[in-house]
Amino acid sequence: MNHLLTTHDLAEVDLLNICRNAEGCDGVLKSQDLRGVPYTVLEGKVMATLFFEPSTRTRLSFESAMVRMGGQVISVAERNSTSDAKGEHFLDTIQTVAQYADVIIARTPDPISEDVKNQFRQLPCTYINAGDGKNEHPTQALLDYYTIRKYKGVMDQHKICIVGDLQNSRTINSFVEVMGRYPGNVIFTYNSVDNSKELPRNREPLAPIHHLEDEDQFNHFLSEYDVIYLNRVQRERHESDEVLCQFQLKRSHLESLKRDALVLNPGPRLKELPRDLDFDHRIKFFEQARNGMLVRMSILHHFLTHSSQSS
Ligand code: NCD
Repeated sequence: MNHLLTTHDLAEVDLLNICRNAEGCDGVLKSQDLRGVPYTVLEGKVMATLFFEPSTRTRLSFESAMVRMGGQVISVAERNSTSDAKGEHFLDTIQTVAQYADVIIARTPDPISEDVKNQFRQLPCTYINAGDGKNEHPTQALLDYYTIRKYKGVMDQHKICIVGDLQNSRTINSFVEVMGRYPGNVIFTYNSVDNSKELPRNREPLAPIHHLEDEDQFNHFLSEYDVIYLNRVQRERHESDEVLCQFQLKRSHLESLKRDALVLNPGPRLKELPRDLDFDHRIKFFEQARNGMLVRMSILHHFLTHSSQSS
């Protein structure tokens, strides 16, 4: 695995190795805090970040991860500041940046086609997909996986309820692909925007999926969920700005939830996860942000130190 374009690039063993190494990175950061020892494992490496869609967590956690391991960062946060504004083809931009960096982290507003993915696989440096339109967000799925594994130990036998903009969330798409690999999981989906039931699947999950029609049905299973995965309405992918989220987590929901349940949200959060519920230990919103940095440290380490031996 030299490139991370889709969650399909991640076999079970990769998920586990990346999680184990992310735990190790947590230990390193904590010992650095105590002893102030610099961690220079990626010294001399250059990471380019190209974000053609807004980002706080993904871009800055990748950049922080690289800097914390002694590497350097070159960055484009504004699409219009690149030759894209002059009409350059995205592939040319990427192939150019590949001459300057050891790894490219890129976010695109449109899904990357299979044809372009195949071309990225020929690049002289590693390409990591940091979100392509409403298609995929593999490193987010990894950090969600890491967070669940940290608290639950195992990845199977969980009841997982996904609430959000099912048609338009790349995070949901990638999360379902990863958690759906375990046949003992049961996945509930509740569309907070409209009634469409279909998930944009690119691989049939092994775990059963049940669609919840309304909030009553969501409430009916509240005492059974092990994980609630809340997602915002993807306003930028709707024609009208009028799209309203139909769902908001409430104290009454938390009262019925298991004591060891997890409430996850990839961020940014909007109405679906009110800030005044942050007191609740089951809400891992900010911890996910930190876990994102640990997992991305592990991903960068994996690709930049092992890529020549991988398949
Ligand atoms: C997500 C994204 O951009 O896909 N954010 C993130 O990377 N943490 C989710 C979102 O914007 O809704």
